[in-house]
Amino acid sequence: MKIRSIESLDLRGKRVFIRVDFNVPIKDGVVKNDKRIRSSLDTINYVLSKNAKVILASHLGRPKGGPDKKYSLLPVGERLRELLNRDVKVADDCIGDGVKKLVADMKDGEILLLENLRFHKEEEENNENFAKELASLCDVYINDAFGTAHRAHASTEGMAHFVKEKAAGFLMLKEVKHLSSILLNPEKPFVTILGGAKVSDKINVITNLMKKVDAFVICGAMAYTFLKSLGFKTGRSLVEDDKLDVARQILENAKKSSVEIILPEDHVVAKDENDEPRVAPSLDIEDDMVGYDIGPRTINKFSTVIAKAKTIFFNGPAGLFENPKFANGTNEIVKIVANLKGVTTVAGGGDTVTAIESLKLEDKFTHISTGGGASLEFMEGKELPGIKILEE
Ligand code: 3PG
Repeated sequence: MKIRSIESLDLRGKRVFIRVDFNVPIKDGVVKNDKRIRSSLDTINYVLSKNAKVILASHLGRPKGGPDKKYSLLPVGERLRELLNRDVKVADDCIGDGVKKLVADMKDGEILLLENLRFHKEEEENNENFAKELASLCDVYINDAFGTAHRAHASTEGMAHFVKEKAAGFLMLKEVKHLSSILLNPEKPFVTILGGAKVSDKINVITNLMKKVDAFVICGAMAYTFLKSLGFKTGRSLVEDDKLDVARQILENAKKSSVEIILPEDHVVAKDENDEPRVAPSLDIEDDMVGYDIGPRTINKFSTVIAKAKTIFFNGPAGLFENPKFANGTNEIVKIVANLKGVTTVAGGGDTVTAIESLKLEDKFTHISTGGGASLEFMEGKELPGIKILEE
């Protein structure tokens, strides 16, 4: 798949619409994590360097198809102003006469951030008229919103049909480059570390990667479904009982494909989240206990497997890491992966990225994806609508 690059277009003096993913956490009107904003600065600065007019558009959260102050992009505009050290106007809508006038009045080198696209239900419906309205604002369409590339929405897919000049921004290009290289041409051994609550979220990625990886390291609550499918006791841990057969099938397929599936060998358990954590005496979890994290033997075992890898894909926490009592397993795995030398390490998924950032180890990874659902669907081998539309 070859997608057109922003560098192949003549942007000078044009109205350039950049679909960014500024869906960032906001608390009390302040952006709490600006990684996604910083990740699109290269694209924004490049367009500014061409003396073009920059029209930025994003969704934020999941408003119910109408304006909602809670989901306004105003705080994002504020953060962008600080990061760029220049003025950023924020429109009070993303379509309509007011916005048309703001765009018509823009001078070269100016920046206009449109208000949340999802204040119109037509955005998620990929409504043609809405897409045409957005398209009418610009001469060039750039998609830099990798995190939303798995959505066929008006701003990520629909409007691109109505703009002649279109291409991917630098963030989109970087994401596609790193994720495709481990998907299509991973240096072996290739180890995929999967965590998180549910097997059901990861079935497609496991199926697609089965032909490519040497080992899956399975942790997080999804591991309990695998262990229960093998006959181990899981106490009151989170288990998807309707996925026990799926787990068995995955284990069988792995055997046939000579792929190792590495499961936890011990657990950190507690009666509930407020209880004091302890290492369970055996792999079987007692009836009144809940598994919340991997134990020390598991961390050792995982580190031996991870140490042999030349390529790592890491998605999903090893335990209930948002509670510091149960964050040790996730933090240890992050540190083990971060300390590898000469290994391609790619991480994705909101919780995994939060764990890496909280340990300040971002620079130790080859690539940290800005996409949660998008990076997972990419690794599932799916065609993402926001990328497909940019193909040459
Ligand atoms: C994300 O945070 O994963 C993207 O911004 C997409 O958001 P959505 O799941 O609400 O479409």
